Amino acid sequence: MKILLIGANGTLGQAIQRELAPRHDIITAGRNSGDIRVDLKDFASVQAMYAQVGAIDAVVSAAGNLHFGALADMTPELMGVGIADKLMGQVNLVLAGQHVLNDGGSFTLISGVLSHDPIVYGSSASMVNAGLDGFVIGAAIELPRRLRINAVSPTVVTESLPSYGPFFRGFESVAAAKVALAFSKSVEGAQTGQVYRVL
Ligand SMILES: NC(=O)c1ccc[n+]([C@@H]2O[C@H](COP(=O)([O-])OP(=O)(O)OC[C@H]3O[C@@H](n4cnc5c(N)ncnc54)[C@H](OP(=O)(O)O)[C@@H]3O)[C@@H](O)[C@H]2O)c1
Repeated sequence: MKILLIGANGTLGQAIQRELAPRHDIITAGRNSGDIRVDLKDFASVQAMYAQVGAIDAVVSAAGNLHFGALADMTPELMGVGIADKLMGQVNLVLAGQHVLNDGGSFTLISGVLSHDPIVYGSSASMVNAGLDGFVIGAAIELPRRLRINAVSPTVVTESLPSYGPFFRGFESVAAAKVALAFSKSVEGAQTGQVYRVL
């Protein structure tokens, strides 16, 4: 398969690339890194990326930013960061990609554990991750041409503990390589409309 991997340079993206590259042709994309530069927030940039890559069989996203902070200090602008970037950025991938992916192709998006297991400072992340999971189950029943869509929803990743560990006390972390297996199941399997919780 020819697979477009957005966020390939990140902690999860690198692990996904290690998992899929031995069997597939991977085109990497990112804001400041990769074969192709794209800003998911910008729909025109997403459309330009698809025009550049040509025919592909799978779109895999390990990208997306959002703001962590106390609810008391949250503003519409700070909430809007995650909505525009992690949520709508990945929705943009599907809105534009549904028209260009090869028949039977797949989208795999990244959400996260905070949709159902919240932490302090994580209200935006809980909102955005739940939105992504909902989008996936809704979009799955409408996608044409046997296109599929799934979300991977991991807990905190072991490799990220140096940065995120203090916010996730009591959570058991998961290796990025294990999260990458859920991406493999989505891309290389046949399921659709699933949210894979990786704990
Ligand atoms: N790490 C965890 O513990 C964990 C757990 C659950 C869920 N997640 C989710 O997994 C995703 C990746 O996490 P990570 O820790 O691997 O992040 P990371 O190391 O910061 O990597 C993020 C990657 O996404 C790219 N990117 C970010 N915003 C983008 C945009 N607007 N347009 C295009 N590319 C963009 C970056 O590109 P450049 O490098 O080129 O800037 C980078 O390659 C995030 O959505 C995060 O919320 C992470």
